[in-house]
Amino acid sequence: MNALEPLHARLAMSDVAGRPCACLVDSAVDVCHAEDMTRLTMPRHVAYGGEHAKSLAVLEAWAGWLHEQRFGRDLLLVAIGGGALLDVAGLLGSLYLRGIDVIYVPSTLLAIADAAWGGKTAVDILGAKNLLGTFRDPLDVVVCRGLLASLGPRHVTDAVSEIIKTGFVADAALVDEIERYADDRRHSVRYPADMLHLALRASEVKRAIVASDPTQKTELVREVLNFGHTVGHALEATSGFQMSHGAAVAWGMMAEALVSDDCRHIAPRLQWLLRRHGLLGDDHALSEFDLSFHIARERKRDGARPYAVVPTRVGGPCKRVPLDPDLRPHWRIP
Ligand SMILES: NC(=O)c1ccc[n+]([C@@H]2O[C@H](COP(=O)([O-])OP(=O)(O)OC[C@H]3O[C@@H](n4cnc5c(N)ncnc54)[C@H](O)[C@@H]3O)[C@@H](O)[C@H]2O)c1
Repeated sequence: MNALEPLHARLAMSDVAGRPCACLVDSAVDVCHAEDMTRLTMPRHVAYGGEHAKSLAVLEAWAGWLHEQRFGRDLLLVAIGGGALLDVAGLLGSLYLRGIDVIYVPSTLLAIADAAWGGKTAVDILGAKNLLGTFRDPLDVVVCRGLLASLGPRHVTDAVSEIIKTGFVADAALVDEIERYADDRRHSVRYPADMLHLALRASEVKRAIVASDPTQKTELVREVLNFGHTVGHALEATSGFQMSHGAAVAWGMMAEALVSDDCRHIAPRLQWLLRRHGLLGDDHALSEFDLSFHIARERKRDGARPYAVVPTRVGGPCKRVPLDPDLRPHWRIP
């Protein structure tokens, strides 16, 4: 079966059928699903995915490609890739000729669980994560489960990190369910398939939250989804974006839980779950990082102090907690 069948079906629907289309494809997806890609009857630009794609240079290159092809505002851009490629394609969609329609085809579990939804687009500049971006929803998100066949174990654990986050801030039943799958990681060939089910559930929770606060204007509504991300983004940036987003968010959640008197009591359950799913692999990695440079520049501030958002119970509610720029004293995991 053609992994892109759901995309073909979507493009045949009356609201978009016949429109000029172009496709941006993550190179890993293009290689792993080469035969399916050749069946796409639209110009295709293949680009490296991953965090290093989230740059102004890549944005400019992709805009240049669209311009060379003489695409106008009626273009329907199809973006097939992980969260990084979708973030840049979304930004391109909001900027090219002041805005064109984009359809996202998330190719990683993390992108299905989280990145494809909610309309945040971004590139990293000046060494800072997501410093430039917009809020712009794609025209649609099309999940093609066949693309997941080429994912490796690291992709799965990265996604679990965001799924666990969503459960901890907003859905205790989701956390229970992830716990039930914890043992499957090593023993079940169904693990990635089960994770798709959990990723889709997490995406529903995210969409419900985002619907109440689309552009993150209200305290403790959409921003609860940032649990683990203040420290996580600082870790990614400090590691020169070598650490994956999912791994950094896992460490970020632990660190942010441990600095908060109201959240520390859930840290053991969080730690157990993250470890069972193959996260928090290397305790010692963290104490090597001095995050103070990036934490001190954190955009989320209460007055002068950077803060993180943490759940006070599994499933919420959440609260803001101030962060000291130097977190190293808190890295000790119980
Ligand atoms: N916009 C949002 O709301 C939001 C939310 C969460 C995360 N994000 C962003 O998403 C990014 C992380 O996304 P990610 O975890 O999907 O990783 P990614 O997009 O960085 O991709 C990781 C690697 O997987 C490869 N890949 C992608 N699809 C594949 C497939 N089907 N088979 C084999 N390899 C494949 C890519 O080429 C890349 O090398 C981060 O930049 C993060 O900031 C955005």
